[in-house]
Amino acid sequence: MSVVALVGGQWGDEGKGKVIDSLAAKADMVVRYAGGDNAGHTTVNPHGTFRLHLIPSGIFYDNVVCVIGNGVVVNPSVLLRETAELREHGVKANNLVVSERAHLIMPYHILLDRLEEERRGKGAIGTTQRGIGPAFVDKVARTGLRVGDLLHPDEFRARLDLVLEQKNALLTSMYHHDPLSACEICEQYLAFADNLRPYIVDTIPLLHDAKRAGKYILLEGAQGALLDTDFGTYPFVTSSSPLSGGGTLGSGLGPTDISSVIGVFKAYSTRVGSGPMPTELHDDMGDFIREKAGEYGATTGRPRRCGWFDTVAGRFSVRINGMTEIALTHLDIFDGFKSIKVCTGYLVGGKAVETFPSRLEEVEKCEPVYEEFDGWDECTEEAESFEKLPGNAQKYVRAIERLLGCEISLVSMGPKREQMISARPS
Ligand code: IMO
Ligand code: MG
Repeated sequence: MSVVALVGGQWGDEGKGKVIDSLAAKADMVVRYAGGDNAGHTTVNPHGTFRLHLIPSGIFYDNVVCVIGNGVVVNPSVLLRETAELREHGVKANNLVVSERAHLIMPYHILLDRLEEERRGKGAIGTTQRGIGPAFVDKVARTGLRVGDLLHPDEFRARLDLVLEQKNALLTSMYHHDPLSACEICEQYLAFADNLRPYIVDTIPLLHDAKRAGKYILLEGAQGALLDTDFGTYPFVTSSSPLSGGGTLGSGLGPTDISSVIGVFKAYSTRVGSGPMPTELHDDMGDFIREKAGEYGATTGRPRRCGWFDTVAGRFSVRINGMTEIALTHLDIFDGFKSIKVCTGYLVGGKAVETFPSRLEEVEKCEPVYEEFDGWDECTEEAESFEKLPGNAQKYVRAIERLLGCEISLVSMGPKREQMISARPS
């Protein structure tokens, strides 16, 4: 059938987990391709409410093969905890596989993430402190350990010894921290290996056989376009590419294999952690949206910064992802709003800025220009079709669609998998 990449269009937390959980009903495979357990994908389905950090959100369907691709950095302890939690809720997770090429998050990555954030002080990135950045640094520096290494204890230990020499030098001299013990880490990780063994495979033949057989493969993005290492508000970004392009590198499918790219956007904006966010609301409205929508991080519990929809950032995101359609989530949060603002442009020093700037300092100076739309009183949560949404809600969706220059094909309200409707003209 097709390979569909589903990506975050904003700063993460757009509701990707819910949309995947919903679309996976028809899928054969769901593949996580980027990030690690910094992601927090919330799904509410008949099994319960789950916040998945590593396991693909298709796991609730026994017949959907769930792949943790090579582009993900894997903390084995989190992975095992997550599978155990799922089992407690009757989800067997026997349909899970992990790429032997995926890199491991090691204890020194988590430690260095925290120590480096502390060292940055006021300039801290506000990372999730899950060791993501340091793990990707090691991958690129060619000093990483991979999931497949777990199956070869002698080689694992030899590589660890080599790497730990360097990490301990850094820990003791730069951060004045005690050195870590290779024996302890090795013992801990080889115990993980015993439990992870059944999941570890070469995922490339699996993916390409599925593709050749015409299966429906969903690539599940983590984070969002504006956290991309190249295109986000650098250096306040994450350390892998959340874009659709990252979906090929992080899975082993080719760019021409992807048939469509669904961008997931919230009906407003949120950001967690530091870095500029032009439409952030520092007033009661920001607090109101946060409380109504429960905008607290699924991974860290931190309050998310809230603001109006930003179509300048959104257009940029549509472009760099090659989005072919959009799923707009959390529309119900605006039920009862008198009016809703949408950022249609920026001003810097009184001059109009058309595109999302590359320099952090310039993004910080951007003053949003807003267009205001009439709100609606009705509850949208139970709407069964687009036509049944209040007229002003329909107008809001169509305005976002026009301003982004990309079709909105799905609209989602509420947390449950069935609360999603087609926005395509019937
Ligand atoms: P999902 O998949 C929102 C943010 C962190 C921080 C920055 C760098 O749920 O959308 P990192 O730990 O990656 O080095 O932190 O990126 N961040 C996210 N924000 N949603 C996420 O994932 C995020 N993953 C990382 O808050 O600002
Ligand atoms: Mg999240």
